[in-house]
Parts: sequence; structure tokens; C-alpha cells
Amino acid sequence: MSDQNVVLVGFMGTGKTSVARKLAERLNREFLELDAIIEKKEGISIKEIFEKNGEPYFRKAEKDVIKEVSEKKGTVISAGGGAVIDEENLNRLKKNSIIVCLEASPDVILKRTKNNTRRPLLNVSDPKKTIEELLKQRDPYYKKSDHIINTDNLTIDQVIDQILTLL
Ligand code: S3P
Repeated sequence: MSDQNVVLVGFMGTGKTSVARKLAERLNREFLELDAIIEKKEGISIKEIFEKNGEPYFRKAEKDVIKEVSEKKGTVISAGGGAVIDEENLNRLKKNSIIVCLEASPDVILKRTKNNTRRPLLNVSDPKKTIEELLKQRDPYYKKSDHIINTDNLTIDQVIDQILTLL
């Protein structure tokens, strides 16, 4: 197995963080969650960053964290759903990492995210419509990943098993 990082990308609610945390445990590697790093640096939650400073400020903070973590090796990274929509971020991450995109259908994403209010982009009156629109916009960027796994009918362990075959 190479010392490349494994970076999980993909839409909100596709299971990136749960999969990355457990995968890191199984591989005995460092686990990094970009949103958690941003929250720690800023001292407030992602939701509060969006409310107080706006999305552009968050994207700048996200870019700065990606600059730092992309120099690492041998870690498992969970990236926020918008991280690789920025080409510079994707290229930086690609340097030392294998990029795995987790996918899910809009209905599954809605089911997995609907009871959680910590995602500012989905705290809207019609989250299903937002999910469909954002997915359509973002799909071409997610497709630039090295591998894509559809998680609709998979458990966390099954997703991990599939990732392990790619390493
Ligand atoms: C975002 C996804 C979130 C978080 C922020 C913006 C996005 O991360 O970075 O709310 O643009 O898709 P998760 O994908 O981990 O929920």
C-alpha cells in the first residue's frame, strides 16, 4: 500500500466522515476532517462561520486548510462537500492523494441529512430541490475523482471494503 493520503470527497450526506474515520482506524492512519480543522481554527461551528462571515470567508478558510493538509502523506481525509468544486483545491489534493468520491441519490441524501441542522446550505425551505440543483452543478467536479463509489445500498463497512480494494 502506498503512502498516498486517501481523500474522501462528495456531496453532503454521502458518509464521507463516518467512512473516513473508520477507514483511518482500520489502516492505523491519522484521520483528518477538514471542517473540524476549520472549526477549531475559527473557534466557532461551520454553521456560525456561514452566518457571521458568509460562504466566501468559509471557502477561503477551506482553501487554506487544504494547502496545509495536501502536504501530508499517509492520512485519511474527509473533505467538505464543496471542497473540490475549486480546481486549485482538487489539484493540490491530487498531488499526494488518491481521491475517492462517495455518491448517493437525492432521496438518500435527503434522508441522511434531514434531521441535522448543522449544514447551512441545506437549511432551506425545500432541501430536496437544493440537493438536486447542487448535485447537478457539482457532478462534473466530483467526476474528476480517481474513483467513485455509490453508497445508496452500502453500509459503512461495505464502502470501506470497496475502498480497500483500490489502495
Ligand atoms: C458543504 C459541505 C459541508 C461543509 C459546509 C459546506 C458543501 O461538509 O463543508 O457546510 O458545500 O457541500 P459535509 O459535506 O461534510 O457535510
